[in-house]
This record gives sequence, structure tokens and C-alpha cells, in this order.
Amino acid sequence: VKLTSNRYYLDFNATSPFAPAVTSWLAKGDFAFGNPSSVHRTGKVARRLMLEASEALFELFQLPEHQFDLFFHSGASEGINTCLKGFACDAFKQDKRVSIAVVGSDHSSARQVREDLIFHGHEWIVLEVNREGELEVDKAIEKIKAAKYPVLLNFTWVNNETGVVFPLEWAKRIKEQTGCRVHVDAVQAVGKIPNWCQLLPELDAYTFSAHKFGALKGCGFTFIKPDLPFHPLIRGGGQQKAYRSGTENTLGIQSIPIALKELKTKYNFEEQNQATRWLENKMLELIGERGEVLGQKAQSRNGNTIDFRLDQTPAQTLAMALDMAGVDVSNGSACSSGAVIASPVLLAMGRNEEEAKSAIRLSFSAYLKLDEVREFYPIIESILKRYIP
Ligand SMILES: Cc1ncc(COP(=O)(O)O)c(C=O)c1O
Repeated sequence: VKLTSNRYYLDFNATSPFAPAVTSWLAKGDFAFGNPSSVHRTGKVARRLMLEASEALFELFQLPEHQFDLFFHSGASEGINTCLKGFACDAFKQDKRVSIAVVGSDHSSARQVREDLIFHGHEWIVLEVNREGELEVDKAIEKIKAAKYPVLLNFTWVNNETGVVFPLEWAKRIKEQTGCRVHVDAVQAVGKIPNWCQLLPELDAYTFSAHKFGALKGCGFTFIKPDLPFHPLIRGGGQQKAYRSGTENTLGIQSIPIALKELKTKYNFEEQNQATRWLENKMLELIGERGEVLGQKAQSRNGNTIDFRLDQTPAQTLAMALDMAGVDVSNGSACSSGAVIASPVLLAMGRNEEEAKSAIRLSFSAYLKLDEVREFYPIIESILKRYIP
């Protein structure tokens, strides 16, 4: 948990340091720099490395290559925008409309797409979660059945703020019962749940982001079924079967399977979850009735996240105190500019404005150990005690 910065970095859902295997690979310093579209040898080397990365990903995620295409992009915000807008744009050019269904607790890169689609006449559907942050599957099915147009559902496998898991089987059931298509935001699954690399081939698309699991920033990838209606977001030289034009980020792409292969062999969910839950229980003992851990009673949770709040204590107060004590955490209610807003995820979970401005998220490495948690718990304890009378 302690990094070269000599701080306790407890914000792995925001981004991660390089995986050890990626650091060793980077240290070699000899990289293929060619443009994968070039016809000369240098370009071909880069192309080969990219294809090898792509093959490795199909193997890792156990998806049949004849059922899916794979394209790389700049990260999940782009991947999600591409899938949702691509589905809508394909209909629009035939003078048709679509219905996009998102969940109230989805990441902003899905929720904010609304602004770009409704003025073209597409329908925007927001599905509900309960107080634990779990999708109301039956209500979702009803809403999707009542949609005006063909539906694409954005389904977040693991929530970035609460760590609540929506099992992929739920998405499969929704698809079977409504005939909708499903894009899975799989960003927060990697290194946080036991079955992170077991994707269901029945679903239509999956988007991942490299910097969330120790690979390079500015890179991500999407598995997509060729028959999912699609129109590219980024136009240009037609690279990657025209799914995403632009010279590929070969270095970022190569780093992805390096990080994932290491994770697959070393990740131990039980160990991570045991450490996380130990800390959570200690914190709950302190907090008692004067706050809560969000999603604590959800049926399925990830192994690395504790999203908590104290009554009458704004998130920035706690986050600042922890920061001064050398602990990096996320203030769930900070937007990218750092301004404090009520967390849309907590609002979707039925919390009021004040409550939604008080969440702090601790999120840990895939390799978290009980010993480490025991080491930094006293710091957290002393800060919490300051605010809990
Ligand atoms: C669930 C989820 N989806 C999408 C994203 C966007 O990812 P990126 O930073 O790669 O654009 C994030 C990043 O926080 C996320 O947590």
C-alpha cells in the first residue's frame, strides 16, 4: 500500500500504480515504436505486437474470437461513449431512434452521454438501484420492456464508488427477457472480484481501462459483437476495422496483457477481501449508528472497496484530515475539478443531499494483505475518533 511517495495510497479505484511486471518491462527501455499501419518492417513489428496483445486478451477473457471483435482506445470514457453513441448514431443515420438504458449509479461517462443523445430524439431510460446500491432487476425489465425503441443497456459490473457487484447473470436475464442489447462497463472488475476474467459470451460488449489495473494510462479496450449496431465515434484512417481510427497506442496496448497475466496468476480474492473486511469491521465498530458503510448489505460486493460516511461530517473534512495524515483516499463527492457535489451514486441510492456529500471511499490494491491493513488502521482510527464524539 505504501508507495515511493511514502504515503498510504488507498485510491485504487481512481487509478493504480504500474503492476510489478509492467515496471520490469518498462525498465528494459527497448520498445517497438513503429506505426502498426506502416508497410515496412518496423511497422510490421508493431502490428505483430498489437495482434499478439489482442490474442492474449481473447485467451485471458475466454471469449470466442469468432463471436467478438476487439478494439483499443484511449480508455473507458472513450470506450463507453463509443458504444452508446455508436449504437444511437447507427440508427439515426437510417432516420430511426434508440433507447439507451443506464443505471442511476453508473459512471458519469455513461450518464453524461444523455446530453448528446436526447436532442437527436433518442429515448433515455434511467434504471433504479435500492438503498444498498443493487440494481432492481425486475423493475429494470419492466422499464426496458416499455421502451419506445430498440434498447442498449449499459450495465456496470462493479460500482466504482461502492464496490457493489451486479452479477453478469443479471444482465443475461434482462437480455433474455427483454431482447435488449447489453454493453458491460467492466472497468472496476479487474483485480477486485474472483471471476473478473470470466465474461459471458451472451452479452454484446465489454469495456476495460488499462490504468485501473497497473497498465499504462491513456489506453483501454472493448470487446464488441460484430452485429451490435455501431457507427464509429472517431473517424480517420480506418484503423482497427474502422471501429476506432487513429494510430494505435502500441506501448499502452502491450502493457495490458503484461499486467493482466500477472494479475491472473497472483491475485487472491480471499486474501484481499479478508483484509478489506477486517478493516471495515473495525471501522464499523467505531462508527456505530453515527454513519454507515454504503452497500454493506448488498448480496455481492467486491474485495477492495469501503465507501463510508459519518453523519454531519462533510467528505472534504475527513478527506483533508486523512490527507494530512499521509493517507490518500477519494472524496466520493468531488467532481473532476475538485468541487464538492452530492455524489450521484449516493443520490441514486436514496441518500439526501447532505448524506451524498459525506462519502469517503477507500479502495485497495489487488494484493492487499491483512498485515498492511493492521499497519495503517491506527491512523484511520485516530482520524475517525476526532469526528466521532
Ligand atoms: C466504472 C467506471 N467506468 C468508466 C470509467 C472511466 O475510465 P477512464 O478513466 O479509463 O476513462 C471509470 C473511471 O473511473 C470507472 O470507474
